[in-house]
Amino acid sequence: MEHPRSDLKDMHGTVCVITGANSGIGKATATELARLGARVVMVCRDRERGRDAQAEIQAIAEMAHPSSEDTVDLQIADLAVQEEVYHLGETIRADYDRLDVLVNNAGVFLDSREETVDGIEATFAINHLAPFLLTHLVLPRLKETAGRAGEARVITVSSEAHRGASINFDDLNAEEGYNPLQAYAQSKLANILFTHELARRVRDEGVLANAVHPGVVDTNLWRGSGWISWIGRLFSWLYKHPDEGARSVVHLAASPEVEGVTGQYFNETDVVNPSPEAYDEKAEARLWTKSRELTGLAEVTEVEEQKEEE
Ligand SMILES: NC(=O)c1ccc[n+]([C@@H]2O[C@H](COP(=O)([O-])OP(=O)(O)OC[C@H]3O[C@@H](n4cnc5c(N)ncnc54)[C@H](OP(=O)(O)O)[C@@H]3O)[C@@H](O)[C@H]2O)c1
Repeated sequence: MEHPRSDLKDMHGTVCVITGANSGIGKATATELARLGARVVMVCRDRERGRDAQAEIQAIAEMAHPSSEDTVDLQIADLAVQEEVYHLGETIRADYDRLDVLVNNAGVFLDSREETVDGIEATFAINHLAPFLLTHLVLPRLKETAGRAGEARVITVSSEAHRGASINFDDLNAEEGYNPLQAYAQSKLANILFTHELARRVRDEGVLANAVHPGVVDTNLWRGSGWISWIGRLFSWLYKHPDEGARSVVHLAASPEVEGVTGQYFNETDVVNPSPEAYDEKAEARLWTKSRELTGLAEVTEVEEQKEEE
């Protein structure tokens, strides 16, 4: 992607937060949005990897717009740790007076069961609960921006892998058995259920929420040592380059065609129907309530409500 794409909006003056921005689809998305003139806020868990990518993206932004110095920011947060997500949310609210685009991109495929410091199975925690929590924490900024600029966009990177999955509410923590493909598929279904419920809740406030499958892309997602990751790597020569994978995410972030479009699931740049399970409104509501409990948001809101009453 040598030049900014002409089918996309000029993003000067906007602020775009991208999680998992040091690698793969997230890095390519951050690069293109920086090239379009946005202030890009990269969220990365490793400072060194984050700084290397930040320097690269900043140099590309300056090549596209020589006046754009220091337009690529880096925030460090391990999204597997809820305390760090809360801190990240606070920092974003404090440091930026607007937020036009949030790209929930960071994700993992884990060959074996891992548990986070919060005691939650890591695929579910990183792929679903972290975007759920971060979106809630920065929602006030998204709503304010939508109020001033007409809209703000939340994009959650899901996957066609969600097809065939359901949410195992009886064992969200995969304590009774862990299947890597099922855990990944469930988390990607959760991305779409979350998107549907969020879109309904914020539609009247100008915040658009969409989910996207970026295609099958040659990234570090398949870096694990298990046999499924090994097979994933074996066929990687058939996959898309991350720049190609990012096209759909950038389309959702910056295309004028997406104005007013919300609650949709995109396969690359086409709106398609996700699986029937993704339309289960009871599951959407149940997952929402459960996610609030598991992220401590239910408690936070209760405390805030009590304070307001006092
Ligand atoms: N690749 C595909 O074919 C494909 C297909 C459909 C959907 N997706 C989705 O696309 C998204 C991006 O994945 P990718 O393929 O680009 O893989 P990737 O190259 O491995 O990128 C994932 C990014 O997420 C970050 N990340 C992982 N765990 C994190 C944590 N606990 N805290 C903060 N950041 C964390 C990684 O950071 P580190 O570099 O530090 O690990 C990396 O920057 C994922 O949601 C994935 O499910 C991918």
